[in-house]
Amino acid sequence: MKILVINGPNLNMVGIREKGIYGTRDFNDICDYILEEGKKRNLEIKLFQSNIEGEIINEIHKAYYDKYDGIIINPGAFTHYSYAILDAVKAVNIKTIEVHLSNIHSREEFRHKSVIAPACLGQIAGFKEYGYVMAMDALLQLTVND
Ligand code: DQA
Repeated sequence: MKILVINGPNLNMVGIREKGIYGTRDFNDICDYILEEGKKRNLEIKLFQSNIEGEIINEIHKAYYDKYDGIIINPGAFTHYSYAILDAVKAVNIKTIEVHLSNIHSREEFRHKSVIAPACLGQIAGFKEYGYVMAMDALLQLTVND
């Protein structure tokens, strides 16, 4: 099973940025953790990070042509206003799960709304990097039961 894991803007700064909110584990370490957990589950994981909205959209389109079975996306702040990423997720019709390191619902009001979540199977927020692993298990479970 092929899964694309997308991280959006400023996630490359995790470990440096707002440690009280996002934790102290740095981004490369989180990437290694995701790959390791993917391997344990026999998943083919591709990691992609970009601070640029259009690059994220292009990568979502590419997932369609490369026949990915699932997408796990942490869109960073784009979560709250990118209708273009919403449309990209809708366009490819690939099972997608939205992940956030922090609990966006316990933070500032503007973070409570995700414009992308309606196109996703569900949202996982507040479990730091473990959220990506929860999303892998959810995709596995949902695909097995297809
Ligand atoms: C985030 C939450 C967003 O509100 C924020 O803009 C981020 C990270 C998270 O993982 O908790 O950059 O997506």
